[in-house]
Amino acid sequence: MVSSLESSVGTERKVITEIPGPKSVALHARRQAVVSAGVTNGFTVYIDRAQGAILVDVDGNHILDLGSGIAVTGIGHAVPELVEAVSQQVAAFTHTCFMVTPYESYVQVCEELAALTPGTHAKASALFNSGSEAVENAVKIARHATGRQAVIVFDHAYHGRTNLTMALTAKNMPYKDGFGPFAGEVYRVPMSYPFLDGLSGAEAAARAIAQIEVQVGAKNVAALLIEPIQGEGGFIVPADGFLPALSKWTTDNGVVFIADEIQSGFCRTGDWFAVDYEGVVPDMVTTAKGLAGGMPLAAVTGRAELMNAVHEGGLGGTYGGNPVAAAAALATIKTMRDRNLAGRAREIGDVVLANLRSLQQDVAIIGDVRGRGAMLAMELVNPGSKVPNATAAKAIVSYCNQNGVIALACGTFGNVIRLLPPLVITDEQLDDGLGVLAQAVRSAN
Ligand SMILES: Cc1ncc(COP(=O)(O)O)c(C=O)c1O
Repeated sequence: MVSSLESSVGTERKVITEIPGPKSVALHARRQAVVSAGVTNGFTVYIDRAQGAILVDVDGNHILDLGSGIAVTGIGHAVPELVEAVSQQVAAFTHTCFMVTPYESYVQVCEELAALTPGTHAKASALFNSGSEAVENAVKIARHATGRQAVIVFDHAYHGRTNLTMALTAKNMPYKDGFGPFAGEVYRVPMSYPFLDGLSGAEAAARAIAQIEVQVGAKNVAALLIEPIQGEGGFIVPADGFLPALSKWTTDNGVVFIADEIQSGFCRTGDWFAVDYEGVVPDMVTTAKGLAGGMPLAAVTGRAELMNAVHEGGLGGTYGGNPVAAAAALATIKTMRDRNLAGRAREIGDVVLANLRSLQQDVAIIGDVRGRGAMLAMELVNPGSKVPNATAAKAIVSYCNQNGVIALACGTFGNVIRLLPPLVITDEQLDDGLGVLAQAVRSAN
């Protein structure tokens, strides 16, 4: 049976007004008057409803989503299982505060996280509202458990916008500029960036480790925090062997290895977690985004002895693990499992990588095509060089938007186009989106 939402949204991209259309333009004028200028919008069409991989704006344009609200709606928009679970939970109760009176769904989410995250060791989790909050708490726990203070992060890293996570994030503009002073005891080392450094994973790990040992001292390091595939920094996939070598070094030195899987987790890369690809077993994993299909939920999951080292009452928050968000997470995880969305992510990766690599043969501005599963990117350069070409990235995003496709830019140098389609995108929708993207690249070339 086709739901009324499905029939009103449909499955096809359709642009019927100028973009943005008149109603979006009017809403944007209202927005300018009352919303802080510090919060920006990439694409100023105002959304009315959505289904699967299609968003419908207030002017009736049907927009194809290749961004999933920055890697959140992996299971697609308005998935019936999630709608049902959230509606039922809202009707039952919306909040008690888990620290005041608990409820089963919080426990079930932690059971799922213990089962899904890598490793068969005993694990415990704590739930929060945003990715930044999860990362902050992971660092708090690692410091408490080890009695050490230093935290190692990487070039191009993005871990959030709170005070500690700004310190952990690499890029100044727009995330950090003028917002200091930042939290201390954060040390940045080079990432493996095969397109730019040409190093093997082992060589890049040796370079990072040497810097840590000389500049910080292994015995002072509480945690090494890394995105297994970097997100905002440019969808940088480290060379094979880099993560296993870092993981071994942390184990040898009593350092907590924290994998920030907030963008790369929950089937996005073709496995439940990006570290699964090389069999790396982190001591702690931070998750958010794809975990709850659009409801705000985040988690720190780690070795029970680390997670339980914290004194009673040391972790928490009013809304962390809110029952509506927890119900959404359980429905999301079930949907991912039932529909084998990790497998679908791998299929999407095969199609997109082949398509972009063939396009790369024809145009001079694509320097690199990379990614895994449905976390995919192309790095744009000035022809014949590796010099970042952010102008081309902007032009490509704008062309896609004008034609009713959401595509996102990222990267330290603003020159990477990233694709994060909902994992339920159909073959026809993917073909359509790649067609628009190819036209956009050719027109920017
Ligand atoms: C890898 C990573 N860590 C942390 C965060 C911060 O998450 P949030 O925006 O939910 O605070 C993000 C958000 O993009 C992210 O990609």
